[in-house]
Amino acid sequence: MRTLTLILAIALLVITTTSAYIRFLQAGLGCADWPDCYGAHAASLTPALHESDPLFLPRAMHRVAASAAGILVLVIAAIGWEHWGRLRSQWIAVTLVVLAIALAWLGLATPSPLPLVTLGNLLGGMAMLALAMRLLATPSDRVSSVGNLRAWVWAAILLGVVQICLGGMLGARFGATICNTLPGCAGGIDGASLAVFNPIIPTAAGAFERGAIETLHLLHRAVATILALLAVRIACFTPRLRGRQRLVAYAIAVLVMAQIASGAWFVLGPTLWLALAHNVGAALLLTALVCLGALIAATPSKASP
Ligand code: HEM
Repeated sequence: MRTLTLILAIALLVITTTSAYIRFLQAGLGCADWPDCYGAHAASLTPALHESDPLFLPRAMHRVAASAAGILVLVIAAIGWEHWGRLRSQWIAVTLVVLAIALAWLGLATPSPLPLVTLGNLLGGMAMLALAMRLLATPSDRVSSVGNLRAWVWAAILLGVVQICLGGMLGARFGATICNTLPGCAGGIDGASLAVFNPIIPTAAGAFERGAIETLHLLHRAVATILALLAVRIACFTPRLRGRQRLVAYAIAVLVMAQIASGAWFVLGPTLWLALAHNVGAALLLTALVCLGALIAATPSKASP
């Protein structure tokens, strides 16, 4: 069962990565006359592709991984029900099946100018990966006290989800070429509008003022700063953790720093590969946070450090 779940997790990482890669190529980050073609909508592309098309291989990989994952979630839910015998794991297996059906349905509407579709694909895929790994992360390494570590981990998971949505909105609003300075945006945020956050307002040429996209950038950076502080707080607990718990806590700190570095690098010089690394980093960060939450689940909570 553990091997099957691990294969599922690998298939899910292939799905989230190829899905982002396809989206970036279609949206223009990887198109021939970048940045002029940036934001040219993908719906105009022909669905049937020749083998020499750069989208051919990622699409093929995406379909194979998605088919494998679809079968695996059903097998894991069916066999795993008896195998785990724990209500929480059984519910996670059912949630995986529901998410797989929802994403297959969403695939019919993809690509779309609606940010909601991008966010659904982004968050749905990353949530499936995190939940599959959660099935493998059983609380075996007991520690005497982890204080309020669980609360910090939960805060980081929730903020991580918010951050993934903000990043997805930035991508869906084609914001990569706006606000290419650090730490703030050079031109101020004139023309800020809350509509830019509404995922059911489609992205159309000239639909949003520059200042609205800049607000998204600044909020994404502010949340990254809070996530970094949370990662430091979680790292303070490492002397009390053991084995896999300590390893995952360190991984969280490294992943948050790597996300900030790849995000900053992307802002100064946007490229397809940096955007892809940023996407993979976010998926791994959410997975690591959910796994740490599971690994410390059965440890008694006494005092904070
Ligand atoms: C913990 C920190 C961070 C997390 C978890 C995170 C996560 C994400 C995610 C999930 C996306 C969407 C990727 C996609 O469309 O597939 C994104 C996009 C983006 N992020 Fe971050 N991010 C973080 C920090 C930063 C920082 C510090 C910056 C800049 C200084 C940044 C700049 C960007 C930009 C410019 C995009 C848009 C990329 C595009 O055009 O698709 N990020 N981020």
